[in-house]
Amino acid sequence: MDNLSCSANLGSLTENRTVRPLCHCLHVFADEVQQAIDLDGCQTVRQVTANCGAGGGCTACHRHIKRMLAEAAAARAEEAAAPAFGFA
Ligand code: FES
Repeated sequence: MDNLSCSANLGSLTENRTVRPLCHCLHVFADEVQQAIDLDGCQTVRQVTANCGAGGGCTACHRHIKRMLAEAAAARAEEAAAPAFGFA
């Protein structure tokens, strides 16, 4: 396999990954889970499942949902720790 065909294969792999659902059982995509976390305030897998359905089947996607929840919590903690430069 030369470099060109290798790149082409990686490209198609990446494309497939962006259109595959995060939760295959309930056919829920990552952006829907992110919306449940960011806009609707879900902080647990159970809340995400109740919100958009992701995680309500075999539970294989729970580790992905937990990672997204952890990243959101870390971002919130970082934002809370940042000094506020308000002009009062
Ligand atoms: S893949 Fe999400 S519950 Fe099965």
